[in-house]
Amino acid sequence: VQTISVGLLGLGTVGTGVVEIIDNHQDKLMHQVGCPVKIKKILVNDLNKKRDVYLNGTRLTKEADEILTDPDIDVVIEVMGGVDLARDYIEKALANKKHVVTANKDVMALYGSELLQIASENQCDLFYEASVAGGIPILRSLVEGLASDRITKMLGIVNGTTNYILTKMSEEGRNYEDVLKEAQELGFAEADPTADVEGLDAARKIAILGTLGFSMKIDLDDVAVAGISNISKEDLDYGKQLGYTMKLIGLADRTGNKVEVSVQPTLVPQAHPLAAVNNEFNAVYVYGEAVGETMFYGPGAGKLPTATAVVSDLVEVVKNMRLGVNGNSAAIPQFGKNLKSNDE
Ligand code: NAP
Ligand code: HSE
Repeated sequence: VQTISVGLLGLGTVGTGVVEIIDNHQDKLMHQVGCPVKIKKILVNDLNKKRDVYLNGTRLTKEADEILTDPDIDVVIEVMGGVDLARDYIEKALANKKHVVTANKDVMALYGSELLQIASENQCDLFYEASVAGGIPILRSLVEGLASDRITKMLGIVNGTTNYILTKMSEEGRNYEDVLKEAQELGFAEADPTADVEGLDAARKIAILGTLGFSMKIDLDDVAVAGISNISKEDLDYGKQLGYTMKLIGLADRTGNKVEVSVQPTLVPQAHPLAAVNNEFNAVYVYGEAVGETMFYGPGAGKLPTATAVVSDLVEVVKNMRLGVNGNSAAIPQFGKNLKSNDE
């Protein structure tokens, strides 16, 4: 039986989780795809850093080309983060006929349509389930589970770091800086947490959700964004006295051809289910014309939840390889239409 060989770009929070799941769930993976899955090489910045994970002989490298041009590597998993370099590496992997799985919402929100096109031209898969809402399989639910419906609205909490901060400030009276530091130590925050606290990370996710849910290209520029860095404990206490809980809410709302997309701190009535979504957890309401209201809930950040989404994408890639049907991920969303043209 052929072994599927994986090249991993990044061995931080998510990369470590990917190594652990592939190692610990080998029996489940074997059952799913019918062949062993092994990580051959891992790209890192610092070869001397102490790694808190069993590498089982997998080689670390600082040279991306050792992975991107290795003819034995079938699938590249990008979990290094950042934009330009990550985009280049994804593009190069696809051009070299390697399937790609990424957790990178920055790259997918900015360059998703181009990269999906390149994937399609090379008969490769490009999957990115982990890029939105960590361990919640929301993208696949939108494009498969709700494929027959017209989605009209998506609304919810899509950033774990800010939800963790707001929860701890509100429930435990702790101060913003301390809780942000804790969220970084727990591996929830981005390398530069500005994207989390200023709402940009949530904006990227809501742009991806809108693009897939509405089959309509939504640019980051189309998202009205406000973050939580100016929210004080007093604001949270005042809201509480009035019966509200502050949450950073992402919204994508479609009426006919018009779409409104935003991320902003919002006072949610305490009786509403979103008010009870705490810590790093995320929750997204999806409304469809036929299905009505559905809600997706689960861990939105962190090592193993996020790595579960990444490795599940890998399973899909390998199943497609065995069926010989890779390269259809670009066909899922219709990227032809731009939101800005809707006003015309
Ligand atoms: P991280 O902990 O900062 O890890 C990044 C890894 O990539 C590190 O191993 C680092 O190497 C390596 N790396 C970064 N730049 C590199 C470069 N130029 N060359 C070689 N190696 C490089 O990041 P993370 O939290 O795992 O996040 C990774 C990606 O997943 C990001 O796109 C993030 O947005 C996304 N994501 C994260 C979460 C989460 O909960 N953390 C959830 C969903 C999605 P060293 O170890 O040598 O420094
Ligand atoms: N920094 C992100 C968050 C990671 O806190 O939600 C998950 O995408």
